[in-house]
Amino acid sequence: MAGGAVRSGLAALAAAMSLAGAAAAETIHPWVVLGPDGAAVVRTATTDAACPRIRYDDFDRPMQVRVGPWQDYPHTVCEAPLPAIVRSVSFAGRPVPVPRPDPQRIVILGDTGCRIRGGFAQACNDPREWPFARLAATAAALKPDLVIHVGDYHYRESPCPQPSAGCEGSPYGYNWPAWRADFFEPAAPLLAAAPWVMVRGNHEDCRRAGHGWYRYLEPRARPVDCEAFTAPYRVTLGDFSLVVLDTAHALDQQPPQPLVDRYRPQIEAARALATPGSWLLAHHPLYAVFRFDGPERRPVETNATLLAAAEGLGPDPFPVVFSGHIHRFDVFRFAGPRPSQVIVGGGGTAVDGALGDGPPRYEIAGMEVAERVSEKGFLFLLLERDGAGWRATLHDVDGGTVRRCRLDGRNFTCPQ
Ligand SMILES: [Fe+2]
Repeated sequence: MAGGAVRSGLAALAAAMSLAGAAAAETIHPWVVLGPDGAAVVRTATTDAACPRIRYDDFDRPMQVRVGPWQDYPHTVCEAPLPAIVRSVSFAGRPVPVPRPDPQRIVILGDTGCRIRGGFAQACNDPREWPFARLAATAAALKPDLVIHVGDYHYRESPCPQPSAGCEGSPYGYNWPAWRADFFEPAAPLLAAAPWVMVRGNHEDCRRAGHGWYRYLEPRARPVDCEAFTAPYRVTLGDFSLVVLDTAHALDQQPPQPLVDRYRPQIEAARALATPGSWLLAHHPLYAVFRFDGPERRPVETNATLLAAAEGLGPDPFPVVFSGHIHRFDVFRFAGPRPSQVIVGGGGTAVDGALGDGPPRYEIAGMEVAERVSEKGFLFLLLERDGAGWRATLHDVDGGTVRRCRLDGRNFTCPQ
């Protein structure tokens, strides 16, 4: 009796393990992240015991373990450096994108996850209410050479509060199921279309989704624990360069002085990395207005940490700053020597209200705003080289044109 019970218990356990194994066995199609000086890394996540091999031109090469499974992250994340000399990459017979020098077509998007926090819930199951998957498919069809995500990937922080909210069954929390639902599944076509530059948002700070950030998206070596601050770096692709500034912990308002002091050398280091024409990428805007307050429509500047940290540093070397954080499309062009600030934060997360009209004349951090554009909605930007400048088209989720803009030097303009 006892032996039979043990045997049947073992059989049940073996069957359960086999079922669990069958259900969970999974290898994610590799994605490519650009890092310092254009050094690219190709990554995958697998439930297999060993990291797979990946095909570079005519050779299979091994991938190494970036990090093993941990708590609610069931995959081993594997990676391999992708040298510029490699012409083609494939995995399981499917192509993997390779970086191109002198990119001609660049998609910029940001703030893409489905927001569920406390009592607030976006209807994640309704593609009209949370359209990131549609937006990513549309952007992929435009065949970009490069994708820039300006941060905030993970938004499912709490359980769906009620079925009528349209998010029934959604995973939540800082784990793989939430990362998969918020990012890897909807972004799949766009991850397969081009290498990405990943900017870290405040949703990926160390109190929130920072562990997932370091597992999957941070381009450099993974620290042993979540690091609050990382050094700026420059991505170089032929004649084109970007400087990436990690602002994950920069408070929007009333920063304590030690935090300002922490970001000042970060901004100095980012400026020192600039080469002529380098774009700056920072999740939080450096020079923007979040809203206009009161009857006199006083501009509420943001980001207060970065504004205070940059005070007195002199002219900014970048022609343009691309950011997210505010969930709409905004442009601030200045009357003096300062980069245009462009915000592309309408990638799927619940949109913010329109900025509305400010006073006829106002300044941000002591410099007059010459032109301001603000568009509400689920939107992304496509930049295409055009002579010495760039044509910039603001698209909706179906590819419709919302605004036609241009970037020439530090002038980002969107004529009516
Ligand atoms: Fe943000």
